[in-house]
Amino acid sequence: QIFAPERTNSAGVNYQVATERAPLLTAMAPYFQKQWIARSLVQGQEHQPSARHPRYCPYDTSLLWAEVSYADETQCQLAIQQAEQYWPHWHAQDINTRAGLLNALADELEQQMAKLVALCQIEAGKTLADAVNEVREAVDFCRYYASQAQQLWQTEYGVEPWQHLTFERQGRGVFVCICPWNFPLAILVGQVCAALVSGNCVVVKPAPQTCVIAYEAITLMHKIGVPLGALQLILGDAAQGQWLCQQPELAGVAFTGSLLSAKSIQQQLTQHIGAQPPQLIAETAGINCMIVDSTAHLEQVTADVISGAFYSAGQRCSATRILCVQEDIAAALMVLIQGAMLELNIGPADQISTDIGPLIDAAALEKIQRQLTTFEQAGQLLFRTPMDANLNGHFMAPSLFELPTLQQLSEEIFGPVLFVHRFKKSQLDDLVSAINDSGFGLTCAIHSRNQSLMNQLSSRLQVGNIYLNKAQTGAVVGVQPFGGKGLSGTGPKAGGPHYLTAFSQQYCSSAEL
Ligand code: SER
Repeated sequence: QIFAPERTNSAGVNYQVATERAPLLTAMAPYFQKQWIARSLVQGQEHQPSARHPRYCPYDTSLLWAEVSYADETQCQLAIQQAEQYWPHWHAQDINTRAGLLNALADELEQQMAKLVALCQIEAGKTLADAVNEVREAVDFCRYYASQAQQLWQTEYGVEPWQHLTFERQGRGVFVCICPWNFPLAILVGQVCAALVSGNCVVVKPAPQTCVIAYEAITLMHKIGVPLGALQLILGDAAQGQWLCQQPELAGVAFTGSLLSAKSIQQQLTQHIGAQPPQLIAETAGINCMIVDSTAHLEQVTADVISGAFYSAGQRCSATRILCVQEDIAAALMVLIQGAMLELNIGPADQISTDIGPLIDAAALEKIQRQLTTFEQAGQLLFRTPMDANLNGHFMAPSLFELPTLQQLSEEIFGPVLFVHRFKKSQLDDLVSAINDSGFGLTCAIHSRNQSLMNQLSSRLQVGNIYLNKAQTGAVVGVQPFGGKGLSGTGPKAGGPHYLTAFSQQYCSSAEL
């Protein structure tokens, strides 16, 4: 209740119950047959595409299902101009009007559940569970930020006897939102809604891999009444993103993606400062550890390792990357984990039996294979889930590797890959120091039945989100505000009570009585 009293999280669809799942699957069916397109939307207008890019489904690369086209520089320029021109009107709107639009969007997203779930499958390769949860999270962001905005935008009054003081909040100007492909709907909706409700105009540039979901989401926002001037969509790759971040009059950039891109955005922003230094709200990578001591409940650890490291094909920034296990129980735990890995079903995202869907594209698969070469050559592979050789997509079998020292893994590997690091009880202090020394600080899980040890470790770990005796993925909006420290992000936490403060400014007026 401390985070947002006036709200409940979305119930979504209970896809595990056949009678609830069947109508959803029936409603989704037509969307798999359709040929989709996506274009930039500047002032609500689609432009005539110059270069067209075909899109193939990540779990069936023979399926050409969409065509997208990228914006040129004129369109990018126009998008920024329109957003700048509209800002005075938008930030002067009453907070209840802006919050009302977010609540209307939440209702509309729930209405469009079947279409959005289908798109999350076909474009992003999400399993049914992940796709339904993606829509739920998007809905939660809308309602949570609407409720937060209504609280934060209440005018506060000062109580000096000789003067009248007020504190109020307002938007900053034009925000560019650069959104990732791994949460193509939820993170996009979260960033855009936070910026809009705070009184900023938005130019959104989604990841090139998930343009269709972005196009559909922005179209829905316009449909429920977000003014065309307040929200522009630019499709493209890194070039369009870079161009947008070089505009001197930006109020800020909200970005989720790789550390490399975050550094490049930061550089662009500092080189092109206009009237105000822009705000950078970045969420990046993590090399996330799970620490397991000898008192841990091994079956629980196994379940949390499988979901944290391998579900969503490991394509979550929060995912478990290194399992740090006390050596006394390591052998027993490895037996359980390998047994559970054998049970995992790798397959097309649209099959109900699939646990692990594809990676997003061929480039992602190649990158991970390249990153793993040294570990494979050094004989560190412990186990790999068997996979059907005839699958026709960007599939990667969940893999388990030995990791003698944490320092050997210095970059995030964004796929279903788990490293196992064994430690002696006497090395626990050094282990925490090594985790902190990586510079990343996103998530960490601790499994133990020793409460004082968990407290002690938690207080030393320099990470944004700590999970005790549970999996470290799947932060819930308004319950587990999410975001990292150090190289993992600038904060503030998404889905938390302070997120909107980064998109807005407070001002004070005082008058003599
Ligand atoms: N918020 C997601 C999670 O907690 C990651 O972006 O898994």
